Amino acid sequence: MTLEKRVPDLAGRFTKVDELGLYLHIPFCRQICPYCPYNKELFRTEVARRYVRAVKQEMDIYSALVGDKPVTSFYIGGGTPTTVLHTGLGEILEHIFRAFNMRCEIHMESHPNDLTEENLRTIRSLGVKHLSMGVEALQDHHLKALERPYSVDQVKAAVARAVDAGFECVNADIIFALPEQTLAEVEESGRELVRLGVDQVAAYPLFTFPYTRMGREVRAGRNHNSGVLRRREMLRILEGVFYEAGYERTSVWAFTRRGVPKYCSVTVPLYLGLGASAGSYLRDVFYVNTFHVSEYISALEEGRLPIALSVELSGRTQMAAWLYWRIYETRFKKSTFHQRFGRDFDAVFGRYLRPLSWFGLLHDDGEEVALSDEGTYWLHVLEDLFSIDYVGKLWGTSKREPWPEQVVL
Ligand SMILES: C[S@@+](CC[C@H](N)C(=O)[O-])C[C@H]1O[C@@H](n2cnc3c(N)ncnc32)[C@H](O)[C@@H]1O
Ligand code: SF4
Repeated sequence: MTLEKRVPDLAGRFTKVDELGLYLHIPFCRQICPYCPYNKELFRTEVARRYVRAVKQEMDIYSALVGDKPVTSFYIGGGTPTTVLHTGLGEILEHIFRAFNMRCEIHMESHPNDLTEENLRTIRSLGVKHLSMGVEALQDHHLKALERPYSVDQVKAAVARAVDAGFECVNADIIFALPEQTLAEVEESGRELVRLGVDQVAAYPLFTFPYTRMGREVRAGRNHNSGVLRRREMLRILEGVFYEAGYERTSVWAFTRRGVPKYCSVTVPLYLGLGASAGSYLRDVFYVNTFHVSEYISALEEGRLPIALSVELSGRTQMAAWLYWRIYETRFKKSTFHQRFGRDFDAVFGRYLRPLSWFGLLHDDGEEVALSDEGTYWLHVLEDLFSIDYVGKLWGTSKREPWPEQVVL
């Protein structure tokens, strides 16, 4: 697949969608973590103010294209969205509710150091109902190795404040398979988060993208990365802890307390991305904005969309992308494939899934496909083999060049 430097013709694209999701990227952080692959730069107030204005301009352009199509999912990610809590986040949210037909609640990422009681009240008053924070580890030596700017006691206090603040769902991210991490530490982190009362835990193994500082250290042999079997062992420990505490698996890496609406970034298959580096997937086209904040702002100040790369998607690619995300969510109804593509799921994918069912990786009752815990893990390892490579190429190139000629995946 080749993404080209081309702004797709967007007229008419939105008439083909019934509903869409919105993603807003805030590319600022108070410090840069050595392992983090996301698009971000150090927060500067003046740049943030210009960025907020540019985001509003981008919304206005799309508002005219989207019309009153319902927006049924809205996610603010980063970087760290809470860096702009007092520098325009409220303005952005007001604008978004005016520009689009919002029929959903707000999900937002945050940094534990921003979660004072006062800030939590402000976040709630802005209408955020689902809050996520990067806890990452619950042992001081791991926090230090990850260069996180807090201690275990401080981050636990932040989690407790968020849990008490009255959100519908509080999600804590942790990273496992850290260098030298023991199985006992993984179990301790899981149990501690349950004890603190979080509604959801997203536990990711440490990914090492080649363009991050930690990625370069691993490749130079100065840091090591756990193998797939060790990761499997750790994930099994977390499954045990969370299932025992009444959580259920809601995606490959997430466990949600039963009965709580899950915190997640993608709830509808088609989405529009706003902000530097945000991607949009509109049925037959995928495109991504420039990663460079200054170029993103300049494009919008000049009245241009900041789209850097795009690719038109064939019917087969759209179907493969659909299956990729359903596997990620770990269960799906086959009828949703028919609704989306007008084709029988088994006729298209049956021959690929049947062997997986024989090996116990998934259960197929004719109507619904559900991955087993083994299937969830191994299919994701497979997906990762491709996606980390794809994402690494797309993000690595886009970070280096604001307007690349093309990226071949
Ligand atoms: C945008 S950050 C979360 C919000 C905030 N910026 C923070 O760090 O607290 C998204 C999450 O991705 C996860 N993450 C980042 N880099 C990762 C990596 N290399 N491997 C695995 N997970 C990673 C972390 O769990 C992190 O909390
Ligand atoms: S992990 Fe969070 S705080 Fe650290 S650089 Fe990435 S987005 Fe920023």
